[in-house]
Amino acid sequence: MSELRPTEILLSAAQIQKRVAEMAMEIRRDYPDDLHVIAVLKGAFIFLSDLARHIPGHVSLDFMAVSSYAKGTTTSGEVRMLKDLDTALDGRNVLIVEDIVDTGLTLTYLQQILSNRNPKSLRTACLLSKPSRRKVDVKVEYIGFNIEDHFVVGYGLDYDEQYRNLPHIAVLEP
Ligand code: IMP
Repeated sequence: MSELRPTEILLSAAQIQKRVAEMAMEIRRDYPDDLHVIAVLKGAFIFLSDLARHIPGHVSLDFMAVSSYAKGTTTSGEVRMLKDLDTALDGRNVLIVEDIVDTGLTLTYLQQILSNRNPKSLRTACLLSKPSRRKVDVKVEYIGFNIEDHFVVGYGLDYDEQYRNLPHIAVLEP
């Protein structure tokens, strides 16, 4: 077990559920018909599962996995594709679902490779954003919560593969 522990609860399970439901309605309003959702593993898996269940009507899903943090709480700036999509994106309305946008490097990489696959449209939904940490100017159309510069865990987000199962989001501190 690591020495860092989740301390203060930043966002409760109830706050998250309320906001995710609002985001889902906003997304459905913008895409009343076709919507192809791509979740970025592993961090987005819980956000995706709640978001998808709140979007009424037709939605198709696919998954990709990238690695941006080698280990711990500092970014390497390097993004590696670990798992590519199973389906083509040509002519589809595509929504990337990501857990958190920090420096923006991961999303910039994803948006670049996915926009090269000829989607009809490409937008991004992130549960969390840390605006003060941005290194690149990346466009995120749907943001759940803007947060301060803390390393956070829970609701899919991990520290060294731990704490993804917390129902809330907590700050990780020594
Ligand atoms: P970025 O490329 O710096 O924007 O980082 C994006 C990725 O870093 C996210 O998908 C997360 O996997 C990870 N990350 C960034 N900040 C945090 C955090 O506070 N907690 C857990 N993971 C984080």
